Amino acid sequence: MGLDIKKIREDFPALHQLKDGKPIIYADSACMALKPQLVIDTLIQYYTEYTACAGRSPHAFSLKTTRLYDEARKDLARFINAKNPAEVVWTRNTTESLNLGSGCLKYDGSETIITTSESHNSNLVKWVRLKNLGRVNLEIIEMPLNGIFNIEELTRVVEKCEVGKIFASLNHTSNVTAAHIPVQEIAKIVHEREGILQLDGAQSFPHLPIDVQKLDVDLFGASMHKACGPTGMGFLYGRYKLLQEIEPLILGGETVSDVHYPDDITLLNPPAKFEAGLQNYAGTIATGAAVQYLTSIGMENIAAHERLLSRTMLTGLNDTFGDKILILGPEDPSIRTALAAIDLKGINPHEAAILMDDMKNIFLRSGFHCTHAYHHSLGLNEGTLRPSFYLYNTVEEVEIFIETLKEIFDLMT
Ligand code: ALA
Repeated sequence: MGLDIKKIREDFPALHQLKDGKPIIYADSACMALKPQLVIDTLIQYYTEYTACAGRSPHAFSLKTTRLYDEARKDLARFINAKNPAEVVWTRNTTESLNLGSGCLKYDGSETIITTSESHNSNLVKWVRLKNLGRVNLEIIEMPLNGIFNIEELTRVVEKCEVGKIFASLNHTSNVTAAHIPVQEIAKIVHEREGILQLDGAQSFPHLPIDVQKLDVDLFGASMHKACGPTGMGFLYGRYKLLQEIEPLILGGETVSDVHYPDDITLLNPPAKFEAGLQNYAGTIATGAAVQYLTSIGMENIAAHERLLSRTMLTGLNDTFGDKILILGPEDPSIRTALAAIDLKGINPHEAAILMDDMKNIFLRSGFHCTHAYHHSLGLNEGTLRPSFYLYNTVEEVEIFIETLKEIFDLMT
């Protein structure tokens, strides 16, 4: 049975607003998902009822904050099937998570980082910088236009790397091709050479059921703001033994068990050693609420609904425009999320995005989507237009998007 979208939409107050007297079509969830009332209420409750630090003071507000902070970590660990809540480290976003994950490297020039050409800047810029500084080797696996991961190429790259010196940091689901990579197959290849597999889960975590044990990944980073959660919250899952080896990005209060002059510090075990200073308690507790919300809907149900939206969008775009446009990623809607980066072949994507808002209140993104290198490599130097749909979008909204794009084409060509 499909999702009850009408009921789901009632949970999202942002969708109840009108702009110029007409409803909004929100198609920018790959950038920022809307928030259900449960998450909003949880944030407000923290600030109105029990604002305090976790793990420090002995009063009732603090005890409540500590309890809910710990419960959120347990909720998330359960949601991604981590073995232990201590394998979940709170971060600000996926970018911070991926930067933190690479702290298991020695950066002595002997290690190879492997990534793919459609990687988001969060999973590319640091690696290029480290390569330029001579601290790592970098291998970039070309991602074809159809978004299908090249396993043979990975095998070839991995075989030429030194055993135990491989750090594959890959996009689980692309924010431009919308395609998922075959993680288990990849994990086998990387682990056979004693490498580490880190996944950028920013675009998979909100849309697919995630089981880190089944995927057999070592590190997995994602953001909550794309998964109905608060902004400024993300997490890094890591196998516990690996987290023990990772060097923290920031040190300070609550990361140590004791300190003596002149040079004696004792770091706490993960995750505490990574969570320096006062934390985003409201955001963390609201992360727990977002996880509870997504669990109540069911990730399988969300994924199935997105496949329906994706099929509607691809079929509609192909039928309406044929080769007048180029859609990045696989043709098969069942292996993609409900987003499409579209080259309008001559129509400026920013102008089209502004017209979408002006004409029909369709909110979407245009540009490079933080994948400058990939767009440039395809010669798409003005970027692409990118609608991205989520659990609260309807088939009718996707159809209105296609009709509006047709009107824009008629206007501008
Ligand atoms: N990575 C985000 C996006 O794709 C910001 O829009």
